[in-house]
Amino acid sequence: MSVANGFHRAPDGLHCEGVRLAEIARQAGTPAYVYSLDVIDRQLARMAKAFEGINIRPCYAAKANNNADILRLIAGRDDLPWGIDAVSKGELMAGLAAGFKPAAMIFSGVGKQAHELEFAISHDIVLNVESLFELEDIVAIAKNLGRRARIGFRFNPDVDAGTHPKITTGTKRNKFGLPMLALDELLNRIKQESRAVGLCGVSTHIGSQICDLDAWGDSARQLVALAGKLIENHNQDLEFIDFGGGFPVRYDGDRDPPAIEAFAGIIRIALEGATVDAIKKLLVVIEPGRWVVGESGGLLTRVIGVKDRFIVVDASMTELIRPALYDARHEILFDLDADHAKVATRSAIEYDIVGPVCESSDVLARDIVPGFEPKKNQLAVILQAGAYGFSMASTYNLRPLPPEIVVRGSTFNSCPKP
Ligand SMILES: Cc1ncc(COP(=O)(O)O)c(C=O)c1O
Repeated sequence: MSVANGFHRAPDGLHCEGVRLAEIARQAGTPAYVYSLDVIDRQLARMAKAFEGINIRPCYAAKANNNADILRLIAGRDDLPWGIDAVSKGELMAGLAAGFKPAAMIFSGVGKQAHELEFAISHDIVLNVESLFELEDIVAIAKNLGRRARIGFRFNPDVDAGTHPKITTGTKRNKFGLPMLALDELLNRIKQESRAVGLCGVSTHIGSQICDLDAWGDSARQLVALAGKLIENHNQDLEFIDFGGGFPVRYDGDRDPPAIEAFAGIIRIALEGATVDAIKKLLVVIEPGRWVVGESGGLLTRVIGVKDRFIVVDASMTELIRPALYDARHEILFDLDADHAKVATRSAIEYDIVGPVCESSDVLARDIVPGFEPKKNQLAVILQAGAYGFSMASTYNLRPLPPEIVVRGSTFNSCPKP
C-alpha cells in the first residue's frame, strides 16, 4: 500500500523508496521529515505531459516546501521551463540559490516590505501587485533605483473555491489581490508613472486543495476576460496570464480529487474561447505547490507510549500543524517488522495519535485503527506531509526543528540531529 507516495511496507519494515525508515531513524533521529525524490520526479513529468502544447511556465510555489534539494531538482528539469512563485525575500533567495533565473520568478503577497521590493526590482523579478498602496511603494522604490519595475495585476475574482475557509483566497472577504473595481485607478497610476512601472501580466489564485473545478474554471474565465480587456480596451502589452495554483492531492479518507489533466483542460478551453487573439500568444503561468510535493513527504515519528486510546508520539503540531490548523487528515503507517508482526496482538481499537506539545489541539490523527496494539518505540510515518509540513513548522514549546531527509533510490542524505 501507499507505493504511490513513495512509502511502502516490506518484509523488513517500512521503506521510503529503497531505504528502511528504521535506518533513517537510527541515523537522523525522530521526528524527521523524509522525502521521496522519485515521487516529485514523477509529478513533474506528469505535469509536462498534462500541459503539452501550451506555452507554459509553471512557477513552483516555494511556500509548500523550500527544501534546497527539492528546489534544485525542480530548477534542473528540462521538460518544462520551471520558475518560482515566492512570497518573501527569503523564498526569492532560496530560488536563486537553487538555480532559478530571476526572469522565471514571481513575487506575490499582500505585505511586501520595502527591502523585499528593492531586492525584487533590482533583480528584475515580476511583482504580482496586490494593493494600490503597494503600487505606490513600487513606484517610489523603482524611481530610487533608477529602474522600471515589471508588475502583474493580482486579480481577486470573488469566487469561493469551496475549499477549507483557511485556505480560500479568492473571495472579497479574503485579503488577497485586487477587485475589478481597482483596475482603472491602477491603470491611471501606471500610465502616470510609466517610466518607473509597467504592467506585463495578470494573475489570480483562489485557494489551495481545490476540488471544485467549476469554481476554478469560473476564475480562469474571468482572468482571460480581464486579459482581453487590458489588451483590447487599454492597449496593454501583456506577456503572461497566471492562473495560480490550488491543484489538490488525496489526503486520508478523501475521494480522488480532480486530476491535474482536468485543470490543464480548463486552461485549454478558456484560452481557446478567448475572443482576443493576442491572449493565445501569452505565456501561461501556473503556481503549483502542494501537487508537486504533497505526496512525496512523510513525517517519521516514534511512539513514546500508549495510554488508554492515546498513542503519544514524538512528533507534534510543531512539526506538522495541518491537522490542528485545517482539520487535515493524514494517512499513518506503523512500522511492523517481521519479528514484531509475529507477536503483535490483533486489535480493533481506535486511537488518537497525539504529540507532546502542551495544547489540546496537538492531535496528529483521530480515530486511527492500527490493527494491532502499538508499542513503545514503534516507528510510524505520517503520509502526505510533503507540502506545508516542514515549511510551516515552528519551535513552539522550544522544540527544535526536525531534520529533513531526502531519499533517492537506496540512498539518502543524513542530516545531523538538530
Ligand atoms: C499566490 C499563491 N500561489 C500559489 C499557491 C500554491 O497553492 P497550492 O499549494 O495549493 O498549489 C499559493 C498557496 O497558498 C499562493 O498563495
